[in-house]
Amino acid sequence: MSDFVKFGIIGAGSAVWRYHKLGTKNNPRIKFVSGYDIDENKLAKAAKYSKLEPFSKLDEFLKNDIDAVMVLVPHYLHKDLVIAVAEAGKHVICEKPMATTLEECDEMITATKKAGIKFMIAENHRFLPAHQFIKDVVQRGFIGDVFLGRTYEGAYAASQFFSADDWGFTYTKGGGGVVSDQGVHKFTMLNWILGEVDSAQCWLSKTLKSPPNKGEDTAIILLRYKCGATVTVDISSSTVHPLTNKTELHGTKGTIFEDHDWERPVKIFSSHPEAEVKGAYYSPEIEHGPFPDYYKISMGHEDAYFAECILEDKKPEFTPEEARQGVAVVLLAYLSAKNGRMTSMDELMEVYKKEGTRSILQGLGEVTQKNYEKLNWD
Ligand SMILES: NC(=O)c1ccc[n+]([C@@H]2O[C@H](COP(=O)([O-])OP(=O)(O)OC[C@H]3O[C@@H](n4cnc5c(N)ncnc54)[C@H](O)[C@@H]3O)[C@@H](O)[C@H]2O)c1
Repeated sequence: MSDFVKFGIIGAGSAVWRYHKLGTKNNPRIKFVSGYDIDENKLAKAAKYSKLEPFSKLDEFLKNDIDAVMVLVPHYLHKDLVIAVAEAGKHVICEKPMATTLEECDEMITATKKAGIKFMIAENHRFLPAHQFIKDVVQRGFIGDVFLGRTYEGAYAASQFFSADDWGFTYTKGGGGVVSDQGVHKFTMLNWILGEVDSAQCWLSKTLKSPPNKGEDTAIILLRYKCGATVTVDISSSTVHPLTNKTELHGTKGTIFEDHDWERPVKIFSSHPEAEVKGAYYSPEIEHGPFPDYYKISMGHEDAYFAECILEDKKPEFTPEEARQGVAVVLLAYLSAKNGRMTSMDELMEVYKKEGTRSILQGLGEVTQKNYEKLNWD
């Protein structure tokens, strides 16, 4: 193996590709060399502007001289394309959410293990320095036992809701609306910091008059963790401001506030002996910047880490099993919305064993509040 990884891109025309490209542009250990896309125009643009050797046939792409593949396609395609890449013997990093059902995640885990390649989900929230700081200080006891949390992600993605043909936020191709698309970031990050979810309750809302194949654009999810923490996750794709995130964690010995819009994204109150300032708020210096910088920074670290795992033959610390747990919380939230009550992980596992988790995505529109009828967007 050389001292850098040659990557090919599946979904070379994807919108998120530009942030991976920007985040890794000064990384000598990563070279993006080729791309595959079913859209000839997008492929031609990727060839022109990103200097990717273009492939319009998957089998030919998989035979080109690459070590690893980055999969940047609609959610319902993640499973088949990750398996195809693994079977071709290439390492694979695939965008979030891992897949639309737990059964698809299982197939991906089995196939990638069998192929003996490195496999990681591109969950950039796990690689954002602000989140890594929070994970570290919570683990070291800076705020004691966490009992309360609040998180928020807001984006304005209305254009994706109005076209029924766009795959984004659809039940069939997206795996649901904003809970699947944005919520999964929060769930994966919170599971990492707080451990296993015990139960959830979720409310789904359409604030935009989107076609019936589109899921919710706004949701509130209440999560109860086995560690004793209760957390609310508020997410929306119709809030009118640039993309942002916030997380707040309160523990028995202190508090952390985090806001992606702040230059110093974390404010912490702690009396821990190792705290920089004891008994008063302080904001450590952390690599960060409001959108789009935090995309570039987190994706840059994520891709660098995956390349490092390949070059140094290490198993990625962020495992596919953990990414699957993020999808499990998405499906638990949806199941609770259908049940209209708090629903436990054990109940989700019953559905998994009996009907299969695809069944949860059916009929979600009926339990989604049609709040657009009360709103004036003109
Ligand atoms: N981490 C983040 O914050 C973040 C942000 C945006 C998107 N994403 C994720 O990135 C992925 C792609 O999303 P996007 O918004 O960039 O999508 P997109 O619709 O902009 O791009 C998808 C690309 O895949 C191509 N494609 C579709 N079907 C294909 C097939 N069968 N074979 C090959 N190419 C195919 C399309 O032509 C298009 O170029 C999704 O998983 C999404 O959730 C992550």
